[in-house]
Amino acid sequence: MSHKILILPGDGIGPEIVAEATRLLHALKDRFALAVELEEAAIGGAGYDAAGEPLPQATLDLAREADGVLLGAVGGPRYDQLPWEKRPERGLLAIRSQLELFANLRPAILYPQLASASALKPDIVGGLDLMILRELTGGAYFGQPRGIRTREDGVREGFNTLIYSEPEIERIARSGFEIAMKRGRRLCSVDKANVLEVSQLWREVVERVARDYPDVALSHMYVDNAAMQLVRAPKQFDVIVTENMFGDILSDAAAMLTGSIGMLPSASLDAQGKGLYEPIHGSAPDIAGQGMANPLATLLSVAMMLRYSLGEAAQADRVEAAVGRVLDQGQRTPDIWSEGCAKVGTREMGEAVVAALAD
Ligand code: NAI
Ligand code: MG
Repeated sequence: MSHKILILPGDGIGPEIVAEATRLLHALKDRFALAVELEEAAIGGAGYDAAGEPLPQATLDLAREADGVLLGAVGGPRYDQLPWEKRPERGLLAIRSQLELFANLRPAILYPQLASASALKPDIVGGLDLMILRELTGGAYFGQPRGIRTREDGVREGFNTLIYSEPEIERIARSGFEIAMKRGRRLCSVDKANVLEVSQLWREVVERVARDYPDVALSHMYVDNAAMQLVRAPKQFDVIVTENMFGDILSDAAAMLTGSIGMLPSASLDAQGKGLYEPIHGSAPDIAGQGMANPLATLLSVAMMLRYSLGEAAQADRVEAAVGRVLDQGQRTPDIWSEGCAKVGTREMGEAVVAALAD
């Protein structure tokens, strides 16, 4: 059976970086017997241009049928004047919610070759490889009731509700253990159980799910301590699982430990493990069309898709190893360039990774 992959180039640098992902997938198919079929569709501003909608119905239909979806990026100044519901970013929010992508995986990987890109000392971050799993469809960002109201004494107050049901906690916890099984088998659940009832339930459910995963070492940490530990000694972590808002904040902090936005992939998964894969960066209108965008975040997103949705761990290892080899060779796009390295463009970088694929 062939894996069906839907490619959504989107806007700005999206088409340029996604072209390198397509090159990579074709190489895996032709040289390493990966069974894939690729299809392409429009999203974001490109969706608006083609069909008047940031998420055309035809694109959503194809996404539902696909085993994995790869997205470039959406948005750009050309679309800034559009009404809110036609904006490119709406297409991204809509596909995430339509596909019920509740598990957001954000790795923070610092290749040892790029250790000088980080603001932290190389011995603290060099070789960093941690995964933050953020719950994406619950918590305070969606909880009811919410609003701004005026009290009887005339004072206004704003309020949101941080709420999680047991099934919501259980499915994200399960994803956390499954991911830990595919990595270093250590899971740290981050909460605020010393203050929040919702965190007490979270802990109880995570402990219960843990019984199904005796091979994973589970720990718990309060979110304030986790923020501190991420900066003090980030290599202590393998997989972190946490609720939506804590994960929003911690994953951005963790991404910046590596200092290179062009290097970081992400995934958003549904309950069946199907998912949407994308670089964490945006459409970079300032460098679009110049052939200088770093395609590695997108190629590493392909690796994540192979590992987490397609069950092709060996192919994922192959891609990640090839990226490592290209960095060893000293090839760098401008965003990660440093003295003594060779400056290359988007296409050369993509071709170098394909050339470095090995058994
Ligand atoms: P951005 O991530 O597009 O760019 C920030 C800076 O990083 C820019 O200087 C850019 O040139 C650089 N950069 C980003 N990706 C790069 C790459 N692969 N290689 C080299 N340099 C890279 O964020 P910004 O400028 O805030 O947003 C631009 C547009 O992208 C906006 O329309 C925004 O709404 C959209 N956006 C889309 C996202 C998505 O599709 N998931 C996520 C974030 C922003
Ligand atoms: Mg954020």
